[in-house]
Amino acid sequence: MTTLRWGLLFMLKYPHVLRRVQAEIDDVIGRGRLPCMADQDNMPYTRATITEVQRVADIVPLSVPHRTTTELQLGGYVIPAGTAILANLTAILNDPKHFPEPEKFRPERHLDERGDFVKNQALIPFSIGEITCTAARWRHQGKENTVTSPVKRLQR
Ligand code: HEM
Ligand SMILES: *[C@@H]1O[C@H](CO)[C@@H](O)[C@H](O)[C@H]1NC(C)=O
Repeated sequence: MTTLRWGLLFMLKYPHVLRRVQAEIDDVIGRGRLPCMADQDNMPYTRATITEVQRVADIVPLSVPHRTTTELQLGGYVIPAGTAILANLTAILNDPKHFPEPEKFRPERHLDERGDFVKNQALIPFSIGEITCTAARWRHQGKENTVTSPVKRLQR
């Protein structure tokens, strides 16, 4: 819900993005039916927009604390067993190495020169490692796209 709210906010703030998403929805889905997950592959701009909303919304900034079960070495540090570990997702989602001008809301950064969607390995709103968000694995099974549907209903 939080990401959805951020998405609607960005659509209001950047009407040119909303218009491009709407145009793509009109093109690919039309008005006679609801979106389904299979549409995603044919809607790179909408997908890039949702991805950019997730990046900028950054709704779980420090992920969820984990704890080491054994001593380990990481980047030259020895981390004892039982150490609490927080992944700073904000730092990664705003790393200019991966996202130039990270403070800008720019869906195009997730598209290549042909307009195809590109997955950025640093786009990790659901955290990283063995244990991540359970819901992130369901998205492939979903029938209705929760972001596209409300935007579709904003149509004139
Ligand atoms: C865009 C929305 C969401 C974001 C950005 C998000 C992000 C996260 C993050 C960062 C974690 C911590 C992973 C870790 O342990 O390092 C997590 C865990 C989890 N999330 Fe989400 N989440 C979202 C939506 C949801 C939804 C809708 C559900 C359920 C309906 C959900 C269920 C869970 C569960 C069950 C875990 C615990 C996984 C585990 O410990 O095995 N999440 N989520
Ligand atoms: C996480 O990273 C951000 C951006 O680099 C930084 O401002 C913030 O202080 C970091 N948080 C923690 C707890 O280190």
